[in-house]
Amino acid sequence: MLGTVFLLLVALCASGGFGEEREEVQRPGHVSVIIVGSTGDLARKYLWQGFFQLYVHQVSSGHTFSFYGGGLSPAEKATPVLFEILKAVTCSKDVSPERCAIIKDQFLRLSQYRQLKTVEDYQHLAKHIEQQLQQEGMSEAGRLFYLSVPAFAYADIAEKINSTCRPTGGPWLRVVLEKPFGHDYNSAQVLATQLRSFLNEDEMYRIDHYLGKQVVSKILPFRTENGKVLDRIWNRHHIERIEIVLKETLDCKGRAAFYNEYGVIRDVLQNHLTEVMTLLTMKLPANVSNSEEVLRNKLQVLGSMLPLGKNQAVVGQYQAYKTEIQQELNKTKDHVSLTPTFAAVLAHMDEPQYEGVPILLISGKMLDERVGYARILFKNDVFCVQNHHSVLCKPKQIVFYFGHGSLQYAAVLVSKNLFKPVLKDHEWKEVTEHADVNILGLHISDYYVHTLIKEKEAYAELISHVLAGRKNSFISTENLLASWGLWTPLLIGLTGSFPRIYPGGADNGDMLDVHLKGKEIHYSSEVLIIEPDHVGGTAANSFQVMQGKFRSTDMVSAWTEELVERLAADMEEAAVAAVNTGTVFHLALSGGSTPLALFHRLALHHFAFPWWNTHVWMVDERCVPQTEPESNFYNLHQHLLQHVRIPYYNVHPMPVQLNQRLCVEEDGGALLYETELSRLVNGSSFHFVLLGVGYDGHTASLFPRGKLSELGENLVALTESPTKPHQRMSLTFSAINRARKVALLVMGKGKHELVTQLSRVKDTADKYPVTGVKPANGSLVWYIDYDALLG
Ligand code: BG6
Repeated sequence: MLGTVFLLLVALCASGGFGEEREEVQRPGHVSVIIVGSTGDLARKYLWQGFFQLYVHQVSSGHTFSFYGGGLSPAEKATPVLFEILKAVTCSKDVSPERCAIIKDQFLRLSQYRQLKTVEDYQHLAKHIEQQLQQEGMSEAGRLFYLSVPAFAYADIAEKINSTCRPTGGPWLRVVLEKPFGHDYNSAQVLATQLRSFLNEDEMYRIDHYLGKQVVSKILPFRTENGKVLDRIWNRHHIERIEIVLKETLDCKGRAAFYNEYGVIRDVLQNHLTEVMTLLTMKLPANVSNSEEVLRNKLQVLGSMLPLGKNQAVVGQYQAYKTEIQQELNKTKDHVSLTPTFAAVLAHMDEPQYEGVPILLISGKMLDERVGYARILFKNDVFCVQNHHSVLCKPKQIVFYFGHGSLQYAAVLVSKNLFKPVLKDHEWKEVTEHADVNILGLHISDYYVHTLIKEKEAYAELISHVLAGRKNSFISTENLLASWGLWTPLLIGLTGSFPRIYPGGADNGDMLDVHLKGKEIHYSSEVLIIEPDHVGGTAANSFQVMQGKFRSTDMVSAWTEELVERLAADMEEAAVAAVNTGTVFHLALSGGSTPLALFHRLALHHFAFPWWNTHVWMVDERCVPQTEPESNFYNLHQHLLQHVRIPYYNVHPMPVQLNQRLCVEEDGGALLYETELSRLVNGSSFHFVLLGVGYDGHTASLFPRGKLSELGENLVALTESPTKPHQRMSLTFSAINRARKVALLVMGKGKHELVTQLSRVKDTADKYPVTGVKPANGSLVWYIDYDALLG
């Protein structure tokens, strides 16, 4: 009787409910479940078991079911395979063997295999479902498609579902999708656009199985239930660090083709760890079951992350990976893969609540143990003079322990020096008797430990959430793209980076340890990285900072990082020298993207910089409100000023907005700035001016053919840029050339051609305004990185 709906014996169901809580399901009726890719690995391991469990739970809910295993193979071939898989499903311990046998028998009768290859196959399926509904006189609740197939097949299948299997009238259509949802922002967007043309947003259920882990789904309720205490301490004043870690002992054998394309950042950090991070840091929703609010608050987190660049990550690769790839992908012995199998990423949020709190996301294959957890480590300012063993001086922390590791079970741990938590629902119990284990620096007895009364499989949990339409357990298109928006720049930044090779397992020792340096993360031990032979180093590798001449004045050249280090040091030296003579240091800074690395360096490494006695001026400004990301002041504030201790009254943004309008001559903004600088800066002579140079040879906002000579003796002027925003305010040569020190910073391969031209041309300020920079009594130094100098 395969494929026939088996009406359930009400007596059987009503009697027990099989000890499971029931899901809230909309519109009781008949549900057709179709697993596409039904004999694949995931379906075999988790999905059929999950749907069986769903059936067990829902058997008395008023719903009826039919299950279709779909696939490309013909039915004669795949049916026996499917039934081997189905025979292996099991009941949980609280279902008696007799009852289990009956339900399993029903489940098998309700299931059938169908070839789902062509559009006609899908049409037949739809017809079959409709006939069945008619014959049995059942009303339809909905159709649930689970696509357990490679992502490249999604759009095609979604199109077929849309054109043939969409129920009419009230019943719902839900389509479950498995990651990977793209490879980066652009590919995720392409896939999302394709899917959107066949499915509505509310019909798509993108799975992240971490959201089905009970400990993970307890994070929000835990934060709410313990809100009274946590409200006070869940912020940057109390949190030392957040760590989200998934360590694995497994290698990548058997999935090299997939893994080598993706690597650990795309495989685990972009999805599982990011989801956990959002749950830990999102604004608590008024109602944790309100999907829209939960998804919206998660999105806010993603939008408030500071950008991730290559200084926010370290990557590694286990030694045997190279050979595995060579074998599985039929590569030659000299083939090298740069795919990371380990990554540690340091993220920060641009949010007052968490400002400065390091968020560490770490995952890797072939590590010493299999364990996953999220730890919120709080600051502990108690110092025990004698009793070092007192729990009071030990780590104060909350650990959401996903499982495995030394504890071996999923748990929520709160250190006893923090508070006694409440876990309100009936799924959790307190554990008071423990094995003798240490968890993250504390003996288990130093924690309040709560664990699950019954552990449930993540897929089974999520499958039940699909039926209940709980969208907050899934990834919306908007959130997915926001997550890729966060990770893609890092992935691009890491392109071409060599992962540190680690031996695997316990032998890794401290090789993968990291240290956090301000907003940067580095490996804490130096190891000799032997790069593959074919990547031989260039001669430039062997020298660090070079002094020379450029356009007959001094030049410092180095690789970008060293160059920025050197410029920051020179700037600090000038500042200290000025302050030591008893004056304040007047510094004028350029806008644009080139100085950002310098700003970061100053903010993160130059704690002795005398900011308190420094006045910061602007070399130029775009005529946009200062709250716009295009504004030079906005960037200066974001990347430097807000991170250093400089008095507000020492900061001098250019007055581009007066009388509620931007850069209008008659408002006299330029004159105002000139007056202020003449009043405060001795002889209008800045101690240090930082300039950049644009591709067209412009400097400050002094552009080629900008009638610069007409600016006369004015120190500040309104100018015109050939690119948007056209209106600018700028220091003039009169102001710049009075400075005591001028640094001209030029970086990046894109500037190489310009540097070459500049090395040859005479002073022609009209054509190459930068050549008009010639401090009358001060010095000019060019800081040019090797990319710009050597190309
Ligand atoms: C999967 C990744 O999504 O998650 C795997 O593709 C990883 O590489 C797995 O091993 C980890 O899941 P869990 O549930 O074992 O922690």
